[in-house]
Amino acid sequence: MKSDSSKNSGKTFHVKSFGCQMNVYDGERMAEMLGAEGYVPAADSADADLVVLNTCHIRERAAEKVYSDIGRLKRADGSTPTIAVAGCVAQAEGAEIARRAPSVDVVVGPQAYHRLPDLIARAERGEKAIDLDMPLESKFGALPKRAGGQRPTAFLTVQEGCDKFCTYCVVPYTRGAEISRPFAELIAEARALVAGGVREITLLGQNVNAWDGEDERGRAIGLDGLIRELAREDGLERIRYTTSHPNDMTDGLIAAHGEIDKLMPFLHLPVQAGSDRILAAMNRSHSVESYLKVIERVRAVRPDIAVSGDFIVGFPGETEADFQATLDIVRATNYAMAYSFKYSRRPGTPAATMDGQIAEELMHERLQRLQALLNEQQQTFNAATVGRTTRLLLERKGKLEGQLIGKSPWLQSAHVIAPGLKIGDMVDVRITSAGANSVGAEALTEEVA
Ligand code: SAH
Ligand code: SF4
Ligand code: F3S
Repeated sequence: MKSDSSKNSGKTFHVKSFGCQMNVYDGERMAEMLGAEGYVPAADSADADLVVLNTCHIRERAAEKVYSDIGRLKRADGSTPTIAVAGCVAQAEGAEIARRAPSVDVVVGPQAYHRLPDLIARAERGEKAIDLDMPLESKFGALPKRAGGQRPTAFLTVQEGCDKFCTYCVVPYTRGAEISRPFAELIAEARALVAGGVREITLLGQNVNAWDGEDERGRAIGLDGLIRELAREDGLERIRYTTSHPNDMTDGLIAAHGEIDKLMPFLHLPVQAGSDRILAAMNRSHSVESYLKVIERVRAVRPDIAVSGDFIVGFPGETEADFQATLDIVRATNYAMAYSFKYSRRPGTPAATMDGQIAEELMHERLQRLQALLNEQQQTFNAATVGRTTRLLLERKGKLEGQLIGKSPWLQSAHVIAPGLKIGDMVDVRITSAGANSVGAEALTEEVA
């Protein structure tokens, strides 16, 4: 399959990823693979010979959006680039995509994208190449080795798929069953990233805290064991993980937050709703009480931890009292940030055919009220960090002369004027001001840490 990269020399590609961070990771791996096949990245889809749309199916009109994106790839002279649709819409819609949009050449699911070069070759011979397999063999072994990149931060998918089957969610259908990547493979990938200049790794999975494996001595370990091992890597300064399910917050993982300095004080722990009746209808398999207990235990070992979450308003049957219970759990938890969505009826999921679907206007109104509270909490969280001394990992340039933007341990974007420093440096700062979405900081030393 990885044959002669010269055959593609001069051809350009563009990968456009939508949706979650795991899609971003997959998009990067596809780009690396195309690079190894001789393709050169193009800054824009408008002038690429090959465009990969790496799609997301989580919310309303996801598929419609893909069709309009495909339409927009048509050039002024009526020609189109080679078009590959990848990701979760590809998995959900399958061959239908190529029927509805004849300009699509390749449709490839999230578990089969290591075969992209083959599929493109088939498309070039005039076939519609469609691959929705969820093969037993891991795609990761077939991908080129990682080399690190231009950025000081990287994603590392450690776990894929989901066995939880929340009644509103497409992910178990588009991504398949839960699998954990092997320990040795992950350590090797992390080392390659660090050797390439990466200083922060975010471990990814649809249920990342369900990761399990065996360490080099054959002992069974969970995500905390993997984090402990990674924390030993020189040059790797920071470790994060996302997204976690409340039921998979093990004692070991909670304890790790109090013990491992490199594990950043940030926990993304979606609860979705604050009423036990709705949580049961969602098949979340945790309760309000068990969720709040986890938060309490994490805060006991790491009092400054920033907690973030996901919420859905307007799940079928949600009453005003249920919604009030969601506001209550928000007040009880106190979020540093959060994502909140209107419930979206996803074809094929159990909730799509439940009684009591909620009117759009009511969902809209509830979402406004929820977001007002969440925004206030975010502002309060940011304000409470003013005056703290902390450390930033600088990730990009700011708009002002000498300004750089980095992340605090609590995942806040922080602006600092530090003319002597560059992207990838770490700098000790004091947080001096707080906005809704970011904070300002002053450098305590100009020395590169
Ligand atoms: N595995 C993670 C995240 C999955 S998807 C978890 O269990 O939390 C990311 C978020 O999208 C979910 O947390 C949920 O808030 C939202 N989401 C998923 N399906 C949705 C739907 N049908 N309608 C609205 N929001 C949805
Ligand atoms: Fe979807 Fe639930 Fe699985 Fe998260 S845990 S990916 S919300 S089914
Ligand atoms: Fe979207 Fe698939 Fe991720 S549906 S959120 S791209 S797992």
